[in-house]
Amino acid sequence: MEKFIIRGGEPLNGDVAISGMKNSALPILFGTILTEGICIIDNLPDISDVKDSLAILESVGANVRFINTNTVVIDTTQVKPKSPPLELVSKIRASYYLLGAMLGKFGKAQVGQPGGCDFGNGRPIDQHIKGFELLGARVSYESNAAITLNAPDGLKGNSVYFDIASVGSTINIMYAAVFAEGVTVIENAAREPHIVDTACFLNACGANIMGAGTTTIRIKGVKKLKGCSHSIAPDMIEAGTYMIAGAITGGRVRVTNIVPKHMDAVTAKLIEANVPIEIGNSYITVNPTKNLRSVSIKANPYPGLPTDMQPQFSALMTVARGMCTVSDGIYSTRFKYIEHLKNMGANIEYDEKSSLLRIIGVSELHGATVNAPDLRAGAALILAGLAAKGTTTVTNVELVERGYDHIIEKLRSLGANIKRERI
Ligand code: EPU
Repeated sequence: MEKFIIRGGEPLNGDVAISGMKNSALPILFGTILTEGICIIDNLPDISDVKDSLAILESVGANVRFINTNTVVIDTTQVKPKSPPLELVSKIRASYYLLGAMLGKFGKAQVGQPGGCDFGNGRPIDQHIKGFELLGARVSYESNAAITLNAPDGLKGNSVYFDIASVGSTINIMYAAVFAEGVTVIENAAREPHIVDTACFLNACGANIMGAGTTTIRIKGVKKLKGCSHSIAPDMIEAGTYMIAGAITGGRVRVTNIVPKHMDAVTAKLIEANVPIEIGNSYITVNPTKNLRSVSIKANPYPGLPTDMQPQFSALMTVARGMCTVSDGIYSTRFKYIEHLKNMGANIEYDEKSSLLRIIGVSELHGATVNAPDLRAGAALILAGLAAKGTTTVTNVELVERGYDHIIEKLRSLGANIKRERI
């Protein structure tokens, strides 16, 4: 186990370059299975979820070679539709993308249950399964809980209406449909920038996908995909986290190498909270405010405020003037950080019946020893530690490093007093 030790209370200042987006890098890595040839994937974040995804790819026969830390060459010509080891698959959520990619390429797949952060709702994958079935796959479950998909007569395009605008289901059905005979129409598709990035990757390989980024995506089946070079889009969640690092410490932080449009919901909320923001072509600067005020938050699918930013915003609201509510329209109980923020002096109440947090801002937080319960909650605790007076120790930070590229180095470059230690 590793821990971060933070001596907080000082404003952060400077520029921070944002890495490639975890939530498009992971599906795109698995999507390389669909291609014949070699894919060069650039702007990959250096995070453990990427390493785990590549280990899964290698376990099914892919040849993976790094040219540098952020660029990988993947040859999937020797990939076989075999079931990867459960201990690898269960490490990450994104291993479910093997289902769509293997089914699309080979007409069959067998994958153990995916892992990932636990938000209290079990993170069902019924919409993925419904979509696979609508395209003609038979679904069964092995005794070890592996999901088995079979389409001996091939897949056929169909209309797939999702009950929920789900990121994973949208990408998985794009994968399954890429070679399906005829046209597949996904209705109520998720619109996140990672969906667009994944569709761009597939189209660069020769797929015929239209409408990614809207609620209706049309996929016309093609015969084959070739390899391509693709650069992963910047990580909007990493960018938002550093924007809040600026705001919560009263500093001036400029996030660079981003798509400012992807940040609209985060930027709008910060402006509402009285944080002065400057928006450039590929950067956003968060300027100091002396008058941070409470604003209520509800996380929603894109273009709403991302659920992956909800814990970080709650951390910010603990030191804002006034009272606000926080709710999450995607994972209604994604609040495992509450007790930890309370240990640091935050005034938070949780109304279980309405799944609503009430946060009354305090004048300052104090350092404490806290435990990262999941990736973004861990990031929220680090942000709180940067703002708090005294020393904060955050344990279980491996979870945070699943999704944040060189977080210690990046925070230090902004002036943070933070170090990593083994427990
Ligand atoms: N849902 C279902 N059935 C399904 C699929 C989803 O009920 O078949 C529900 C989920 O339980 C959730 C909502 O629909 O309540 C949205 O889930 P979605 O499928 O969009 O989420 P996901 O694909 O499992 C990805 C990211 C998450 C991010 C969500 C929402 C990856 C690997 N994970 O998860 O990222 O929170 O989309 O944007 O891409 C993170 O980075 O910290 C993280 C958790």
